[in-house]
Amino acid sequence: MLKDKRILITGVAGFIGSNLADRCLELGANVIGIDNMFNGSIHNLKNAQQGKDFQLVKGDIRDYSLLLEISKEIEIIYHVGAFTSVPQSIIMPETCNAVNVNGTINILNVARKNDIEKVIFSSSSSVYGDTNKLPLTEDMPRNPISPYGTSKLAGESYMQSFHHIYGLKTIILRYFNVFGPRQKDSPYSGVTAIWIGRIQRNEPLVIFGNGENSRDFTYVKDVVQGNLLAGEKNVSGEIFNIGAGSPISLNNLAALLLRLTNRQDLLIKHTDPRPGDIIHSYADISKAKNQLDFIPQYDQKSGLKEYLSWISKNNDMT
Ligand code: UD1
Repeated sequence: MLKDKRILITGVAGFIGSNLADRCLELGANVIGIDNMFNGSIHNLKNAQQGKDFQLVKGDIRDYSLLLEISKEIEIIYHVGAFTSVPQSIIMPETCNAVNVNGTINILNVARKNDIEKVIFSSSSSVYGDTNKLPLTEDMPRNPISPYGTSKLAGESYMQSFHHIYGLKTIILRYFNVFGPRQKDSPYSGVTAIWIGRIQRNEPLVIFGNGENSRDFTYVKDVVQGNLLAGEKNVSGEIFNIGAGSPISLNNLAALLLRLTNRQDLLIKHTDPRPGDIIHSYADISKAKNQLDFIPQYDQKSGLKEYLSWISKNNDMT
């Protein structure tokens, strides 16, 4: 279905964007990717840049005229690029808002202007905020508790408004804690990459709080699968949870990671809980299963095994 499609991927040099680009190219699509290289890395595009069907534009989604220009011939936009860190959004709420909200409005405006068939938006489970009612279904109240979650919810609302007012085909995918190859080891990255980095440097794993927080860690290939299905299926104006559907506590994740790397000698240190963190996150994925035929292929253990083997082959935590 994606063969010869002209696709724009925002945040293409990032962790999720680059994995998505590789798969789209494998399926025969033509991909233009934009990235401001804030979080992204050129290393992530090694595969993509080998073929002639990929073009990288170094630029920012806050730049409307640039977006308008590069999306002239585009059929599908995967809007993946974002300000992604919850703690960093507390330090820089204005930047988070400018990228995640104004950047998203730019995408929607160019999609309208250039008659783009469909826009698929990478949203986040953080729009739900804290709730005792689990698993999370798409129709539950959304009460984000961080500037990041708030910005993603605003992005979603703009997607929905453009769908309702202009009939633009939009799909919102709410990701649940994505992990896997190319996730960066940086203080503002996801916990799995941070902990693997610490294991490599023989440092203790740090858990914020008592470690009973849980997350529905989702392997990046399953997130890519969700995006491809959203692009192919005749569905629009909908929101889908994209998760593994099997949560794990931070304590258990730490133990699993130490077991898989054979590093039970390393310590686990608990510090204060992190402000803005939700306690539990667990996706009900039945809507994506029913309407998109989305079936996750990985659980945390199989995903971690594949991720660790990728790291040992690539020796790469870019
Ligand atoms: C993550 C993503 C966010 C995404 C959301 C839902 C990142 C940086 N954030 O947010 O973009 O929208 O999932 O898909 O990828 N923790 C520790 N020790 C550490 C680091 C984290 O205990 O060294 C804990 C945190 O307190 C939290 C959990 O691990 O309880 C997950 O944190 P993190 O990986 O930063 O992800 P989210 O904040 O859930």
